[in-house]
Amino acid sequence: MLKIINVVGARPNFMKVAPIVAAMKRREREFAPLLVHTGQHYDADMSDAFFRDLHLPAPDIYLGVGSAPREEQIAAVQERFEPVVGKEKPDWVIVVGDVNSTLACATVAKKLGIKVAHIEAGLRSYDSSMPEEANRVETDRIADLLFTPSTDADENLRAEGIPPSRIRLVGNIMIDSLYQHLDRSRQSPIRDQLGLTEKRYAVLTLHRPANVDDLVVFSRILAALESIGEELPIIFPVHPRTRKTIVNLGLGESITKMRDLRLIEPLGYLDFLSLYSGARLVLTDSGGIQEETTVLGIPCLTLRNNTERPITVSLGTNKVVGTDTETIVSEAFAALERAPKPAVAIPLWDGHTAERIVSLLMQ
Ligand code: UD1
Repeated sequence: MLKIINVVGARPNFMKVAPIVAAMKRREREFAPLLVHTGQHYDADMSDAFFRDLHLPAPDIYLGVGSAPREEQIAAVQERFEPVVGKEKPDWVIVVGDVNSTLACATVAKKLGIKVAHIEAGLRSYDSSMPEEANRVETDRIADLLFTPSTDADENLRAEGIPPSRIRLVGNIMIDSLYQHLDRSRQSPIRDQLGLTEKRYAVLTLHRPANVDDLVVFSRILAALESIGEELPIIFPVHPRTRKTIVNLGLGESITKMRDLRLIEPLGYLDFLSLYSGARLVLTDSGGIQEETTVLGIPCLTLRNNTERPITVSLGTNKVVGTDTETIVSEAFAALERAPKPAVAIPLWDGHTAERIVSLLMQ
């Protein structure tokens, strides 16, 4: 019997851990899983809604760290996670993705001599200004087992000198959740509530510090949205970080005037899946949404200068367009004129990644 601590901290972790916990619960003679929530994200709509939608069991242990600058947040997670690992003495600590909680919990486990597995290992934007990039590189350096979503991730790890014996190509864990919940998401009332017609609207998400903490960059993006909004309405579920910076940068008034940019609260997993799966176009600076739109064949423009998920560009529907106003507008209009690319199957993004991971842990 393997005792496992699964860690979640922030919104993009929940849809990655839910299939793992479920797969372990299906093999209850082999696995004793515990769920630890660091509390990096704590609002009802950033956290609780995802437990409900994804059928995640309530956390066994809640660390309640809350918001803080990166180094402080990492230190707070480490301080509260260490006694948990010391008491529970698991065989493995499993971390996912690239948020601050991922790195914090991996370092604690390593220090206490507990094996660490990192799911979604090997992704690289090669943009050292992103906190997520530091979290990925440092977590991969110390983890014992690196579960990768695609061959480009394996290549990145090998280029950093990580021995192939630590790397396992298993596919994309987020897509397990997507396939599992796609049918249920069709029951979501969100599109009716917003009065939307399928393929006649765009969806926007924006929360990267480089985009929303900087007045010049944020204003350039808003100018582009104003033009795109003349063609079709843009639905914008606003991340709490972005909500704060809109106020701090004094952009509230100009955004309110943009009638075709509709700000709404952050959505739960099922409502958001329903929303973007019916969209004509998605504009985002998120990592995961580039992958989800690729699987569903929804055109996606990534408002960043790079991506750690190049396979969504080479095989999928994603295009990295940066944050220049004219480029965003011309790429958006070009995407609206093209017939959408049919969705292509990416190897191992098949809804069975969790089963592969738990089988490998058993070996
Ligand atoms: C974090 C992750 C990012 C991920 C994103 C998804 C890191 C470095 N970043 O960024 O990779 O894409 O989550 O959402 O881990 N806040 C709330 N309520 C909440 C959570 C946050 O109001 O429930 C506010 C905080 O007060 C803070 C801001 O949002 O001011 C940022 O939160 P934080 O977790 O530090 O980073 P994110 O920008 O959410």
